[in-house]
Amino acid sequence: MSRIAYVNGRFAPHRDAAVHIEDRGYQFADAVYEVIAIQNGRFVDEEPHLDRLDRSLGELRLAPPVARPALKHILRETVRRNRVRDGIVYMQVSRGVARRDHAFPAHRNSSLVVTARTTKPKSAAKSGGVTVVTTEDIRWKRCDIKTVGLLPNVLAKQMAAEAGAYEAWLIGADGAITECTSANAWIVTRGRDVVTQSPTHAILNGITRRTVRAIAEEAGYRVVERSFTLDEALAAAEAFLTSTTSHVMPVVRIDGRPVGDGRPGPLTGALQEKYEAHAGMAPGDGA
Ligand code: PDD
Repeated sequence: MSRIAYVNGRFAPHRDAAVHIEDRGYQFADAVYEVIAIQNGRFVDEEPHLDRLDRSLGELRLAPPVARPALKHILRETVRRNRVRDGIVYMQVSRGVARRDHAFPAHRNSSLVVTARTTKPKSAAKSGGVTVVTTEDIRWKRCDIKTVGLLPNVLAKQMAAEAGAYEAWLIGADGAITECTSANAWIVTRGRDVVTQSPTHAILNGITRRTVRAIAEEAGYRVVERSFTLDEALAAAEAFLTSTTSHVMPVVRIDGRPVGDGRPGPLTGALQEKYEAHAGMAPGDGA
């Protein structure tokens, strides 16, 4: 089946879909994005994702390309035309097309691109957990804004891929682990505290992170938002990462050293199960 993309008011075959060469997203990474999971035909945590999109737009003074009801319609139509039941919908808003000049253009004609595709949940395919490597976090000071300026993330993810790892955990200037290249990082201490970095400007405040936090607290676990170091992660009972596409993913090795007994931990497993129920996955989906 051929894929269809939405670009600035039109649906077009994916292979022909294009933005102008002077789109500011292309020239300056002057653009923000969101990724929402579709599970059994349902959007997972749609409103929080759209709220975060609004926040990213506001922080960069980007004009919303369409009002929320229209955006929701476009997202649904893109998902429908691509026949996605389980997968993701991607949306990107840039400051539009203008002659190259760093300062904002006079117009407020943002560009909107939406794509959708079928994917398998990664957590089911990686039931033994994943390995990660660490590297310096060389990103800017506003990682809370979900911009397409992802070059440091790309370089770190490539480093991880070349090392045979699933993700890179990024280490900030203070020696604390901030997050992963495209997910949030968590540990479970030997005292059973569930720990993740607080939502400062140093990380993206993941929607999955927020949902997992609520799920963990509801289940009676103590969630602590604070910095933690690599040494603390290596001494932890369990580790995992969270994102829209990875859900709750157990981390079993960091820089080649085992976390806990080197197998997915029980508390992580419990959170994974609860998150997948929240996301509307039937037990065994994607396995
Ligand atoms: N990435 N941190 C970073 C740097 C991310 O890029 C992401 C998501 C997350 C997790 O956020 P959420 O739980 O809202 O997906 C944390 C998306 C999936 C991506 O870039 O494809």
